[in-house]
Amino acid sequence: MNSVPSVPSVPSVPSAMSAMSAMEAIAQRRAVRSFLPEQVGRECIMALLHAAVWAPTAMHEEPWAFAVVQDPAMLKRISQRAKALLSEDALHGRHLAPEALKRFTDPAFDIFYDAGTLIAIYCRPLGPYAAGDCWLAAENLMLAACAMGLGTCVIGLSLPALNDPLIKKELAIPPELTAIAPIIVGVPRGQVQPSQRKEPQIIAWR
Ligand SMILES: Cc1cc2nc3c(=O)[nH]c(=O)nc-3n(C[C@H](O)[C@H](O)[C@H](O)COP(=O)(O)O)c2cc1C
Repeated sequence: MNSVPSVPSVPSVPSAMSAMSAMEAIAQRRAVRSFLPEQVGRECIMALLHAAVWAPTAMHEEPWAFAVVQDPAMLKRISQRAKALLSEDALHGRHLAPEALKRFTDPAFDIFYDAGTLIAIYCRPLGPYAAGDCWLAAENLMLAACAMGLGTCVIGLSLPALNDPLIKKELAIPPELTAIAPIIVGVPRGQVQPSQRKEPQIIAWR
């Protein structure tokens, strides 16, 4: 008789990981934009990366690669570069709301909200599903973080900087890799504002 294969466990799960159900983690995960100063440790980061790589992946390509940035000076440089590139876009005619432009030209505005950790998921050039795989990995990571009591937020604003050749060189990211899903991680400061969703729109059910 064939034995049932055992479900692989996620290695390096910190003991602090709560026994939150998948539905609870989905319901409780919110974009967190305010963090306590304490840094997320290596063990937690590794647990998040292991959760990420258990995402479904088309043709088992596993196209993801992770850049972990915890150096405050580097985080600041990426934030400043992102704001400069986004402001340049506005100068070159791409529409930006006046409020957004004001933020991007404010030296005090940190696009990472003073989070101590950025995990940027980069993608190898591996075909039409590679970016989707990376987003699935991103959601795994954010749900695992939620179950560990950590806060996360996708920072799409950082993508131009994370794909900027100067920043990639500084992080030693191979040029053929593309940043897809940048996620800040930290210990949430206080309660997060509730979010809302519309009811699922069912357009076919036959
Ligand atoms: C692709 C993507 C890009 C995002 N970029 C940013 C960003 O640059 N800055 C930010 O503060 N939030 C960003 N967010 C977070 C969204 O604003 C947030 O998920 C949304 O408001 C819903 O709130 P919730 O995640 O708490 O449900 C991004 C989310 C996604 C999925």
